[in-house]
Amino acid sequence: MGYYGDEISFTLNFENEETRTLRAKIEKGWKKYWGHLVASYDGQKIRLFFNGEMKAEALAPAQKIRSVADAQVELAAYLKQEPAMALANLVKSVRLYPQALTQNEIQERLRELQAQVEAGKLFPDIFHFNAGPYLHLATPQSINLSWETDRPANAVIEYGPDQNLSQTLEIPEYALIQEATLPNLQANTTYYYRVRAQSAEGQTIDSGLLTFQTAVKPEMPFSFCVIGDTESRPHVNHRLGQLIWEERPNFVLHLGDITDGGFQNHKFEWNHEYFTGITPLASRIPIFPVAGNGEADLYWYKRYHRLPDHEEFYQFSFGNTDFFMLNSNVNAELKKGGRQYEWLKARLAESKATWKLVAHHHCPFSSDEDDFGNTWKGEVSTQGDPKFEDLKKLYESAGVQVVFYGHVHAYERTHPLKDGKIDQQNGVTYIKSGGAGGHLEDFAPSHAWFSGKTQRGHHFCRVDIVGNVLGFKMYDLEGRLKDFFEIKRP
Ligand SMILES: [Fe+2]
Repeated sequence: MGYYGDEISFTLNFENEETRTLRAKIEKGWKKYWGHLVASYDGQKIRLFFNGEMKAEALAPAQKIRSVADAQVELAAYLKQEPAMALANLVKSVRLYPQALTQNEIQERLRELQAQVEAGKLFPDIFHFNAGPYLHLATPQSINLSWETDRPANAVIEYGPDQNLSQTLEIPEYALIQEATLPNLQANTTYYYRVRAQSAEGQTIDSGLLTFQTAVKPEMPFSFCVIGDTESRPHVNHRLGQLIWEERPNFVLHLGDITDGGFQNHKFEWNHEYFTGITPLASRIPIFPVAGNGEADLYWYKRYHRLPDHEEFYQFSFGNTDFFMLNSNVNAELKKGGRQYEWLKARLAESKATWKLVAHHHCPFSSDEDDFGNTWKGEVSTQGDPKFEDLKKLYESAGVQVVFYGHVHAYERTHPLKDGKIDQQNGVTYIKSGGAGGHLEDFAPSHAWFSGKTQRGHHFCRVDIVGNVLGFKMYDLEGRLKDFFEIKRP
């Protein structure tokens, strides 16, 4: 049994070499693309169901089906041009029954699965973490983290600079998603921690022994990695997470589209897609996110993060660098006089940091194939989102050196830009890094004037700040260096 495009199918082989195949067309699945595919054979009829509805039925030949006793189950996927896609990104669970289920039984099973997915549960009946532990805001004195259990639970976080875990933070309230701040920490110090959760029925689980590191002091060097558009391929995100872990950065900037569309009624995209891929990394390295269009309602974004300022737009400092994190979903706020524009202008004016870096989801510059006009069909691309006109001028006049964004699922670096021209001395460098687990995108057929490097493929970036030198590298999913540059400040 299987599916390809908009067709599902089921084939049975019979003892006399006869083969019987059922095929049916399907619409898009439940919640955009989840499909519950069931095929049955009761000795007389073969049937094919999709999301609880019978789509095809046929009388079977009188012969027995072939090789039932020693039948092998094989799972496979034809991945077309997606070598990084894994089968488990496509097939979430498989069951084999020794009898043909009735339509009622199939619908009951579908409802069970739907309830499990709606709740973001990864397993039906064991007490487990659906999310995290997930580190985000790290400062020199504290760190924030969140986690979620599949049923309401209270928690104790044990932590400390060594295995004694001599400090504890108790969270007595029972809840699914919990957020915590560990206070009174030492700067640039490794801490061990463990989250122990207990359900109302007394079941317990713990996260295992994990580590985090507090932020460095202002004069100390540090490194961070950059990813964008983790979306719907947890195995790509997991692989990127492994590569980033090898770099041991102080933190990760996430440029939004954490999910492909993880709005309030699509919670499962956070649990089944984002956290399953990213947690091995995010339970040890804090992630500083911005919201993309995939989480523009901010519903789960705010519940899984405890961030400063307005949460959806905020500033944090790390070492000698100020980071300004914007929510670029709210177009009106990005224009002169708009809430985020004016906030950013004031914050940039106050900033005494050596490096002023900005992150948001959407693209001020992009020479991709079709987001701003389909360049294969003769449309003239605007080569970026016009909503950034005012902000681009502000970045240039207020001393921002680098702007990070995602949204288009590819990598692009601009030359340093100012006043619509390349300015090697005083220009702003724009980095588009949207190449985590989203479907990959490509570029327009010809070179854009501002473009310093384009790269199709999954990737991540690493930035090292050492005093007045900013070193940048970009690696693909195989860990190969694909781009680098350095900026030295006077
Ligand atoms: Fe996006």
